[in-house]
Amino acid sequence: MQDFLFSRMKRSAEIFGYEPYDGPLLEDIELYRAKSGEELVVEQVYCFVDRGGREMAIRPEMTPTLARMLARRHRELPKPIRFYSIPNLLRYERPQRGRLREHWQFNCDIFGAPEVASIVEILELLVHFLSGFGANKDHFQIWVNDRRMTDRLFHRIAPTKVRELYAIADRSSKENPGKTGERIHQLKLGNEGERLMENYLYDFKAWDSSPALGELFSAVEGLPCGEYLHYRPSIVRGMDYYTGLVFEVFDRHPQHKRALCGGGTYANLLECFNEGPLPGTGFGLGDVTLTDFLFVHELVDLDSVTRGNAHVLLACEAEEQGRAVLSLAAEIRKQNTRVITIPTPCQFKKALNFAEKAGVRTIGFLGKKEAREKTITLTHRDSGEKTSLPLGDVGKIRALVEGRK
Ligand code: HAM
Repeated sequence: MQDFLFSRMKRSAEIFGYEPYDGPLLEDIELYRAKSGEELVVEQVYCFVDRGGREMAIRPEMTPTLARMLARRHRELPKPIRFYSIPNLLRYERPQRGRLREHWQFNCDIFGAPEVASIVEILELLVHFLSGFGANKDHFQIWVNDRRMTDRLFHRIAPTKVRELYAIADRSSKENPGKTGERIHQLKLGNEGERLMENYLYDFKAWDSSPALGELFSAVEGLPCGEYLHYRPSIVRGMDYYTGLVFEVFDRHPQHKRALCGGGTYANLLECFNEGPLPGTGFGLGDVTLTDFLFVHELVDLDSVTRGNAHVLLACEAEEQGRAVLSLAAEIRKQNTRVITIPTPCQFKKALNFAEKAGVRTIGFLGKKEAREKTITLTHRDSGEKTSLPLGDVGKIRALVEGRK
């Protein structure tokens, strides 16, 4: 499954001209303190002190690593700079559906281009990637917001409680308004503060007070990503580094309402390396949420991507036919048809059970009768249809197997 997903990720990134990069699994924890924000560091980072007494972290995300690498190289690179990567990341989280302690994340980032143009390209790439699986606007939506607008309002409501207001906004899309109302009330914002916060969270038309959102909505008119884009004030993103437009791709399945992907623009990521400014925009899309998304919407055939590696399973009933099985397997493989064998003699039923577990569609069986007649019986696993062919007719055997792949 992972190979299948990764090859699709690479294809979409490369079609848009993104170049691959990689980075180390371990970084100095200060990198995340400076870039990702205290919440990620305190609650989710796996860290340890190394033999040299340095406090190290296993990467919980890739963006700070990319910033560190770019700080050294960006001057020599033509702009805009486009990079992608599919790293494994570790986060200390309670494992649950859609969230694991280790996941792989498809990252694409563009640097040195205007904000709206960058976001449009990144969203187009995402839509290209997801629609490649047959996903459409019944399956997902893209929710956008402008952090500048949110930040201004939250500072006006309660300058000392901005972090708490962000946390409430973030949670509000996952719970009912009553619960969110209680959280707002507990913050003791006063009547005016409460009113402003409630108005903000449920006014889905307020995007026109952000010039960048206005520009974005006109820029995407007529483009594929335009169909998916909606303003949602609750999208604020957890990382501290986002400075402008932010977005999440949301699964629309009623039992699986969650973000598949998140990202946005960040203007100052290179500053702590005394470099920049070099504005960047990008996203991270996790393999766990993507796999759930594809399965709940039945956008992938489990058989063909997870287990159906071999096209035919060959087995025999008696020791003496073992060599014939191996020779036939070698002949079929010459034409790149994928073959697995059961190395010890067995009954047909065992071969069938094995084929079911391994997701193989055709079972070629050499029983005692077949050995006498110099034939092989090819059984279609799902329909049970049996075809007997001469053992020496590799061309016909292969054609039948290929036709059932
Ligand atoms: P993030 O929102 O923390 O963003 O993660 C992006 C995506 O990674 C999430 O939407 C989710 O699909 C997946 N993900 C995160 N944590 C887990 C987990 N514990 N288990 C499974 N999947 C998970 C970032 O990491 C940003 N650095 C993305 C970015 C790149 N922004 C700009 N460029």
